[in-house]
Amino acid sequence: MTETTETTEATDTRPAPIVGLLNQKGGVGKTTLTVQIAGALNAHGYDVLAVDLAPEGALASILGFDDVYSDLDQEGTLHELLLNPTEHAPQAHELVEDAGEFDLLPAHERMVDHTASALDGEPRARERLAMALEDLRTEYDVILVDNQPDINVLTDNALRNSDGILIPTYAEALSVQGFDRLQKQIAAIEEYYEPVNILGIVVNRIEHNNQAEAMVAQLQENFGEHLPVWEIRKRVALQRSLAQHQASLFGVDSESDMLPVLEAIVAEIEANLDVGGDGDA
Ligand SMILES: Nc1ncnc2c1ncn2[C@@H]1O[C@H](COP(=O)(O)OP(=O)(O)O)[C@@H](O)[C@H]1O
Ligand SMILES: [Mg+2]
Repeated sequence: MTETTETTEATDTRPAPIVGLLNQKGGVGKTTLTVQIAGALNAHGYDVLAVDLAPEGALASILGFDDVYSDLDQEGTLHELLLNPTEHAPQAHELVEDAGEFDLLPAHERMVDHTASALDGEPRARERLAMALEDLRTEYDVILVDNQPDINVLTDNALRNSDGILIPTYAEALSVQGFDRLQKQIAAIEEYYEPVNILGIVVNRIEHNNQAEAMVAQLQENFGEHLPVWEIRKRVALQRSLAQHQASLFGVDSESDMLPVLEAIVAEIEANLDVGGDGDA
């Protein structure tokens, strides 16, 4: 784990807010945006933890932690932490890796096929994420949670335990379907628990063609009155910075025209949630 920067540790023990990135459709940019937004928050002076709640471990992989993800000898992983948070939460910091701009709590290969099925029907099955992160929350200013494109007990955890959620989507019909399914999952969670706080919609990987522009306009029309709808263009730089395990654009491309959009997402997180630390302000 990185040493906490000079701005925070001594004085700030408020629990970090949790921000989940969710959409039931794969390939919309949940993992990419987790890294880019974590980098943006870091650039604002916040201590950030990114949690890889997606069993396939794409976030861990992008950040260069394939070896940790697939180390089957490792006995205490995010899988065990979620199954038995009361016992493991105080040691959760031992699972945290230093990913440069921010820290990572990686997924583990055992989570594939095992975690959701083992949790289903267990007591407090939809409170496990908050229980698992209880001790870590005081060590960070903000926690981002990347998710798999599914409706299951893990994504229910992300919806229920996040203080705010961001919904990445593509400007194409299929990802809007994923979005519709997510809205149904949100409605089901809200029926049993408390309201879900949607921070905004990130329309990602927008291309220059009429179909994409029409879809963006439609999303703005449907949601823009009540929610921020951010527009991220298709940019090789967003992919490339990750491919080099260099994490976010903030470290590598200070000229990118997408930085202001990421900054706007950070501003919305700051405005809505009790983010710790001083930031840059
Ligand atoms: N704005 C973007 N511009 C270019 N490529 C992108 C952009 N956002 C995501 N990608 C690429 O699209 C693919 C899917 O993104 P990913 O973040 O893995 O989606 P998800 O986590 O929702 O499955 C990846 O190859 C990623 O590099
Ligand atoms: Mg992903």
